[in-house]
Amino acid sequence: MRNTMGNKQASSKIGRNSPCPCGSGKKYKTCCMNAKSSSSPVISSSSNLITLKHEYRRKYDIIIKAPHEIQGIRKAGVLLLDIMAKVEEMIRPGIRTDEINRLVHEETIRAGAVPAPLNYRGFPKSVCVSVNEVICHGIPGDRILMDGDIVNVDITPILNGYYADASKTFFVGSPTSDGEKIVSIARESLKRGIEVVGPGVRLGEIGWTIQKFAEGQGCSVVREFVGHGVGLGFHEQPQVLHFGKRGRGVPLVPGMVFTIEPMINLGSRKLHILDDKWTAVTNDGSLSAQFEQTILVTEDGWESLTPYDL
Ligand code: MF3
Ligand code: CO
Ligand code: CO
Repeated sequence: MRNTMGNKQASSKIGRNSPCPCGSGKKYKTCCMNAKSSSSPVISSSSNLITLKHEYRRKYDIIIKAPHEIQGIRKAGVLLLDIMAKVEEMIRPGIRTDEINRLVHEETIRAGAVPAPLNYRGFPKSVCVSVNEVICHGIPGDRILMDGDIVNVDITPILNGYYADASKTFFVGSPTSDGEKIVSIARESLKRGIEVVGPGVRLGEIGWTIQKFAEGQGCSVVREFVGHGVGLGFHEQPQVLHFGKRGRGVPLVPGMVFTIEPMINLGSRKLHILDDKWTAVTNDGSLSAQFEQTILVTEDGWESLTPYDL
């Protein structure tokens, strides 16, 4: 996930009579609101969508994806889930986290893809493996998985130039009751965040939904790391906060692709980074869990490009 430094969010409310977010100067109702249904459908619809693509790039640095690009990301997602299934099979007490790295690395290369984490801003391994109090960006190494641990595995292959990004938190052996609790709340947080996605919905709706749910369960939401646009690069705009206000942020439009990846702590949300400059851990040592998927905004809602059941 991306660091939140330098976050900038759009914030005005969008109504039928508001200026169109595409920047045309027209009212929303006479411009992009009708981008998908119009009396002169083909010309009006496609020219509006082309305008929108350029305006989102110019104003927000958001890359709205074309159908062939979406297909490329979807294929990377299929590979990712195939690797994730193999990871799941190997997880048991007694393995070292760098055995997970080896599997992910080899399977990625075998498929003709590249592991995006490797050498990314100096990250030394091909996958992030985050155990118990590790929130994210755990570096695989000598740590041995123990019965009752929870472990997040975050995989990002680049296939034919396209990135898909997803993670899951697994139980090692039999879960503790704390482990079960935090994993189920993190899973449900992602599920609820995804389910509000659709065209015209503001980005802030996602974070608001997640924060309300997770805090309502007595847990905390990490602020320092957020979801992100993804597909042609690892971390694109926009930043996708897992907390915040309703009605904030850019209106979602079809063709946007971004991750939602809430990190939920059983205790305080406060964290620090270890001397390795990567590993983020809870200050109070409490458990942290995370699930992540790559989500496409469609004409009538959303599609996961890294689909697994939540
Ligand atoms: N996969 C992480 C994310 O969800 C990013 C990991 S960056 C790395 O955005 F360098 F640690 F791999
Ligand atoms: Co991510
Ligand atoms: Co990730």
